[in-house]
Amino acid sequence: MSVTSRHRWWQRGILYEVYVRSWADASGDGVGDLRGIRSRLDHLAWLGVDAIWITPFFPSPMVDGGYDVADYTGVDPLFGTIGDFDALLAAAHDRSLRVILDLVPNHTSDRHPWFIESRASRSSPKRDWYLWRDPAPGGGPPNNWVSEFGGPAWEWDAATEQYYYHAFASAQPDLNWRHPQVRGAMYDAMRFWLDRGVDGFRVDVMWHMLKDEHFRDDPPNPDYRAGMAEYRSLIHAYSSDQPDVHEVVREMRAVLDGYDERLLIGEIYLPVDELVDYYGREGHEAHLPFNFHLIGTPWDARQIAVLIDRYEGALPEHAWPNWVLGNHDQPRVASRIGDAQARVAAMLLLTLRGTPTLYYGEELGLRDAEISPDRVTDVREESEPGRGLGRDPERTPMPWDASEHGGFTHGLPWLPLGELNRSRSVEAQRDDPGSMLTLHRRLIALRRAEPALAIGDYWPVHAGGDVLAYRRTHGGRDLLVALNLGSSHARLALPPGLGPFRVLLATIGSLEGGTCQRELELPANAGMILEPLASSDRR
Ligand code: GLC
Repeated sequence: MSVTSRHRWWQRGILYEVYVRSWADASGDGVGDLRGIRSRLDHLAWLGVDAIWITPFFPSPMVDGGYDVADYTGVDPLFGTIGDFDALLAAAHDRSLRVILDLVPNHTSDRHPWFIESRASRSSPKRDWYLWRDPAPGGGPPNNWVSEFGGPAWEWDAATEQYYYHAFASAQPDLNWRHPQVRGAMYDAMRFWLDRGVDGFRVDVMWHMLKDEHFRDDPPNPDYRAGMAEYRSLIHAYSSDQPDVHEVVREMRAVLDGYDERLLIGEIYLPVDELVDYYGREGHEAHLPFNFHLIGTPWDARQIAVLIDRYEGALPEHAWPNWVLGNHDQPRVASRIGDAQARVAAMLLLTLRGTPTLYYGEELGLRDAEISPDRVTDVREESEPGRGLGRDPERTPMPWDASEHGGFTHGLPWLPLGELNRSRSVEAQRDDPGSMLTLHRRLIALRRAEPALAIGDYWPVHAGGDVLAYRRTHGGRDLLVALNLGSSHARLALPPGLGPFRVLLATIGSLEGGTCQRELELPANAGMILEPLASSDRR
């Protein structure tokens, strides 16, 4: 067995998030769909990624863009049919692309038959499938818990005179994961898709699934300031990340382990030390608890260096790292740090140790689009308007070509594409050697060609100022990555014994092929991957 074959496909591979509503629309109704995804799979094969995670396409009233599921084993007509899904899965597998589904187990839609039955009466057999509570002794909600979308997390049901809990919108009641039948029903839904051949799940809000059994109040957050999202007014000591959630994650993992090589990813927004607990003590929980810390950490070389060290240091021995720059809930990376640094960020993401996940359009350098008030669709914008919390700007349709709606749809797109993003289409960038798309494709190809990048060890290299540097090593190969996270020229003194090097790939093409002996010159916003100069080349 070769060294590389000991690694699983998802350790060597690169994941790509497809926000189903915005990637490609085949039906012409202006909303992306499964047939659309199938029609564009060649882009992904050409780009070189290994797997797509498709956001929810299950039947839904679409209060939260499909994260309010009304049937876990169907396809919403907006996105197609189960036949379309099977055809997409087969077409993806034909191209060696794996397919990861989005499982939303924490809550259902209030239109799900389970909730309708639960709500019907206090004696309903499904009453305890959800979290129903009496009012507090003096009246009002049972405790102080706040919804992630702002406002109380409790909704009054006048007919049965109890409150139900919802961590998100009131149309998304939370399931009671202490109930064995709830667990069984969700594991059956997982098996439904695994039996069809899906390669794994990204589990929505994994750390939310269990709440304190005694429903104690969350303590106030002393760092809360006016203008922050209301959710941040409390420390969520009791409403999320409860110790027994790990038992649920282990059970989910056991469902997947009944199949071959399936992948379990957890969406988890927690500090590094708590995040890594979701690998499980024995490694029997999530394969990849999503690491979102590159999104929240200031774009500063020293802070990112500390983050990488802390994360690497916190990982349990068996755990495989992973990194993410963006997703459908966060402002796009090019908008957060600018176009020039987005190229550096791409190099960071694709050269760090651990599985990278790309968000669709990152490979094009898409930015958050301007959404006029009359085009707002996101429940998050509606729940706390005007605070910049809405997620429509990062969810706009993928621009494929120069045609009217960027080749995304023949109809009217559900969100505008934005002029700037339209100019950054796949067609416009595909053959441009200096484009963001070409940079991504080359970085991905290099990661595939160089085991040091895909599965090698990580060694930080001492650097100062705006420079972030590290080595990736494997089987005698020793690559140096040097990134200038600043907008002025910088230098990196090579540690004794390292070098000379030659630039293998750079965010600024003209730097490629250049060599350096003792000190590396890094122009503003430059990132480079360097290989040792072979002794025959040194003369
Ligand atoms: C996750 C999803 C987000 C959704 C929320 C509630 O965070 O990524 O889009 O609104 O869960 O399901």
